[in-house]
Amino acid sequence: MSREHGPSESLAGRRVLVTGASSGIGEAIALAVVAAGAHAALLARSADRLREVAGQLGGTTVAVPADVTDVLAMRDAVDLAAERLGGLDAVVACAGVARPGTVAEGDPADFRLMVEVNVLGVVHTVQAALPHLIASGAGDIVTMSSMSGRRVPRGTMGVYSGTKFAVHAISEGLRLELEDEPVRVTTIAPGYVDTAIADDVPGERGKAFRDAVSSNGIRPSTVADLVVTALGAPREAELVELAVLPTGE
Ligand SMILES: NC(=O)c1ccc[n+]([C@@H]2O[C@H](COP(=O)([O-])OP(=O)(O)OC[C@H]3O[C@@H](n4cnc5c(N)ncnc54)[C@H](OP(=O)(O)O)[C@@H]3O)[C@@H](O)[C@H]2O)c1
Repeated sequence: MSREHGPSESLAGRRVLVTGASSGIGEAIALAVVAAGAHAALLARSADRLREVAGQLGGTTVAVPADVTDVLAMRDAVDLAAERLGGLDAVVACAGVARPGTVAEGDPADFRLMVEVNVLGVVHTVQAALPHLIASGAGDIVTMSSMSGRRVPRGTMGVYSGTKFAVHAISEGLRLELEDEPVRVTTIAPGYVDTAIADDVPGERGKAFRDAVSSNGIRPSTVADLVVTALGAPREAELVELAVLPTGE
């Protein structure tokens, strides 16, 4: 008896757009999907860094720089990605920012940034990609939440957590909205991952965040492998959520 499909199936020939691909988890996802045989379009704001990553990955890998908060730029960038790859089978909405701060004392500009990137950025990404995913006949949406989207870890993370709870709600809504379309929706919810996510956070709060991420975080490649698993799952199955914590956390 032959095994038709399985979670470790190669992504050969699948056309995957990854946001947040200039760094950290998104960069690792780009690497993992290309290693699994996919053609990839890499999106983030840092055009030079994106081209560098695309050059290192080789194969059919294209850079489509854009800001996920800019709805029109996102439509253009996603359409360009689809044009360069000959269509899109999957989008991984990974771009995100974290700015810890209590509601009482945090900077409202930080709160606005998190809502715009982590919530609206995901909506803009999916909205731009959906026509292409539906046209592919076997589409996938992967949204990047966090364990902070399942429970609030501490008092400085309420607003960040709120944006990640929203990612779960949007993903759940999409699954209902798309029940008659050939598009699956998977949410990834990691605990700490060792990336540069805390690098732009100033002061003591930034130092504590950086220490936590670097001393407790799992490797970005471990999260990327979960994305490959979700994209490669047999079409009859939709992996709704993959939550992963550093062992012992
Ligand atoms: N690290 C963790 O512990 C952890 C845990 C759970 C979930 N996550 C989530 O994982 C995702 C990736 O985070 P990371 O840890 O890999 O952080 P990272 O290394 O800082 O990467 C963030 C990525 O998002 C991109 N980005 C930020 N703002 C953007 C914008 N306005 N438009 C387009 N791209 C933008 C950045 O690229 P540019 O600056 O070039 O635009 C970069 O590629 C985020 O959604 C984060 O919330 C992280």
